[in-house]
Amino acid sequence: MKKKIAMLPGDGIGVEVAEAAAIVLKAIEQQFGHAFEMEIGLIGGSAIDDSGNPLPEETLKLCRESDAIFLGAVGGPKWDSNPVGLRPETGLLGLRKTLNLFANIRPVKTYSSLAACSPLKHEVLQNVDMVIVRELTGGLYFGKPSERGGRPGEEDVVDTLYYKRSDMQRLIKAAFDLASVRGGHVTSVDKANVLESSRMWREVAEETADIFKDIPLNHMLVDHAAMRIISSPSSFDVLVTENMFGDILSDEAAMVTGSLGMLPSASFSEQGLHMYEPVHGSAPDIAGENLANPIGAILSAAMMLRHSFSMEEEAAAIENAVEQVLKSGVRTRDLAGGGETYLTTSEMTKEIVNALGDDFAIHQ
Ligand code: NAD
Ligand code: IPM
Ligand code: MN
Repeated sequence: MKKKIAMLPGDGIGVEVAEAAAIVLKAIEQQFGHAFEMEIGLIGGSAIDDSGNPLPEETLKLCRESDAIFLGAVGGPKWDSNPVGLRPETGLLGLRKTLNLFANIRPVKTYSSLAACSPLKHEVLQNVDMVIVRELTGGLYFGKPSERGGRPGEEDVVDTLYYKRSDMQRLIKAAFDLASVRGGHVTSVDKANVLESSRMWREVAEETADIFKDIPLNHMLVDHAAMRIISSPSSFDVLVTENMFGDILSDEAAMVTGSLGMLPSASFSEQGLHMYEPVHGSAPDIAGENLANPIGAILSAAMMLRHSFSMEEEAAAIENAVEQVLKSGVRTRDLAGGGETYLTTSEMTKEIVNALGDDFAIHQ
């Protein structure tokens, strides 16, 4: 099958993990006889340095002409004091908004071979298989009336949280659809004891549950949810929440698995052009050192194969290869627990590609 992929490496370790994902996609291409045309586009800090625009028109055009988008990560200290229009994150937020990528799916799965890497107790990690469904194009990130906040004066500042009921409806429906496929349940996370937007969120969740009669729904306040993710992560199935809460809870949930570098994500639009990116950022503290864990990015590529190209077997091959490699005991530094022996980003990628070959040979 022929597919065009917009590759947007971004900044910092985004470049390193996007390279890793591209290597794995090339291996899949060869083994399964596909043709992936991967074209690189600039976004974030690298785009600012190139053209003064964190989201160049050329990059948007590339994305629109592609069958799927892969993004590494954006940001870094070099651009941290830039005005809002010249921030790397503005490029990413602009891309999400422009392409209507409203449903961000962040699966959180523990590997038994990584139990010792998690800061949590072994027994707490059993049977963790949850998915965070995060609203991605609204809320505090895109406040109105002052777009993305503002400073009315020297001594005050405003960031507003704005949602349309229809934004909540489509996102919460996506969460229930997912729970139906998984045969699971939905936990809707909000702050309804304080925020009016959360009270509307609850209403919409209730209305949606009335349609999906077989899917149990419970509500949880976000502070309680933060506690519960640590104390009993296996009690969650599909967790649905607004943009900012989802951002914070997903980094927390990542650590249940052992490292933020493990988590993949997919961002779905209604139009059919979707984006895939690891949950982590550009990690300036380790950027350029070949130390990043590429697994979140590689699993994001697997999600792309499954959801954008309907290549279930190919996606499963990548996921199995990751599992095999982790079982064999090799680790990147983030998972090595202070141990001296760990693999670089490129070595880990090679291990996964090799395991892919083994897996492929077995299935022939
Ligand atoms: P971060 O996610 O970049 O890093 C947090 C910590 O986790 C760091 O110690 C880092 O070394 C570690 N880490 C993250 N990914 C890792 C990986 N794959 N392997 C090993 N260790 C990993 O968060 P931050 O430091 O708060 O933010 C840095 C920059 O990244 C900021 O500019 C921020 O805006 C940006 N950011 C971008 C995205 C994105 O592009 N989607 C996501 C989050 C943060
Ligand atoms: C993420 C990141 C982004 C977000 C930043 C870089 C804008 O943290 O993808 O989780 O907050 O959405
Ligand atoms: Mn985040």
